[in-house]
Amino acid sequence: MQETLIQAVRGRLEETESLTVLTGAGISADSGVPTFRGPEGLWKNFRPEELASPGAFEQTPQLVWEWYNWRRESLATKQPNAAHVALVELEKRVKNFWLITQNVDGLHPAAGSRNLSEIHGNIWHVRCTACGKREINRTIPLPLLPYCQCGGLLRPHIVWFGESLDPEDLKQSFQALESCEILLIIGTSGVVYPAASFASVAKNQGAFVVEVNVEVNPHSEFVDMSIQGRAKDVVPQLLPCP
Ligand code: OAD
Repeated sequence: MQETLIQAVRGRLEETESLTVLTGAGISADSGVPTFRGPEGLWKNFRPEELASPGAFEQTPQLVWEWYNWRRESLATKQPNAAHVALVELEKRVKNFWLITQNVDGLHPAAGSRNLSEIHGNIWHVRCTACGKREINRTIPLPLLPYCQCGGLLRPHIVWFGESLDPEDLKQSFQALESCEILLIIGTSGVVYPAASFASVAKNQGAFVVEVNVEVNPHSEFVDMSIQGRAKDVVPQLLPCP
């Protein structure tokens, strides 16, 4: 059954000139990165509003940086897996390819993805709260209160709860969703907006929507084909023949 579904999707990917991919924490789970929800999820042990919100950073910036330093330390040991690599291969083969990721772990760019919107930011980027300058910073650990050359406090370049997505990322993502023939959704619970609405956006303009996940999700009603399995096992099998 799964094999038939995989073959069908592979056939469509062989033909298509326009593919958009949406990924979530599930694609990195196979690299050993914890997801957010579920029994082992990060939000089981930590309260997002105490660690990933502008209010938390205003009140206890040291605590927020301590948490991000801990995550950076752990992520520094992680490598892209076969699913990240397969998406790089798809990017080479499909004429119009765009990857939208909710992941901040940097594993897609590390694998070599280029046509990419990291809509929730990137944990390896810091941004000055005073001058707004953004840069890559892989120092581990950062001082608990890291400062910019201008004297302003640095923060992780991550979209926190209650904050808006970068308008350029949103524009690029909607363009990709509104023009794709196929939307491939990999490893997201589909509960955080606006990404939670992306399946319906693509579906409403006529795209064929495929989901790869270990379980069934809320946005599955917009999904034409659901492949149950681990990203690292399924995604490489979707690659069309060279
Ligand atoms: P979640 O933790 O909510 O969901 C992870 C999804 O991956 C679930 O649907 C799992 O079933 C699935 N999954 C787990 N392991 C998998 C595997 N090996 N292969 C395929 N699927 C697998 O993570 P997201 O949906 O990414 O926001 O969460 C969205 C946002 O919520 C995150 O970007 C983060 C969080 O708060 C910010 O940090 C701004």
